[in-house]
Amino acid sequence: MPKPEIHVFVCSQQRPAGHPRGSCGEKGAMNVLQVFSEKLIQKNLMNKVSLVATGCLGPCRAGTNVLVYPGGTWYMAIEPSDIDGIIDQHLIGGGVYEDKLMPEQVWQ
Ligand code: FES
Repeated sequence: MPKPEIHVFVCSQQRPAGHPRGSCGEKGAMNVLQVFSEKLIQKNLMNKVSLVATGCLGPCRAGTNVLVYPGGTWYMAIEPSDIDGIIDQHLIGGGVYEDKLMPEQVWQ
């Protein structure tokens, strides 16, 4: 397996319904993960990008959250319809996917 150039962390934390923090899992994280995986295969990026299902990344209310390294770029409220944008504009294009960039206020 070649060393990945990019790591994409998708928060897949699931908490029980009614939990005060909520979770990315209840906002469709597993579907985001599945579609992300399918798109990376379609676009022949599996040797370049490592897709990682991770536990809670912190800002649960903003989920589904996605974190991309190198660079530590945070995306929030990700839905399957955003994944082409992240792949094409960030992972391939080297820029950022402006539509769902996480603002600093999420951390305050
Ligand atoms: S549950 Fe996803 S950031 Fe906390």
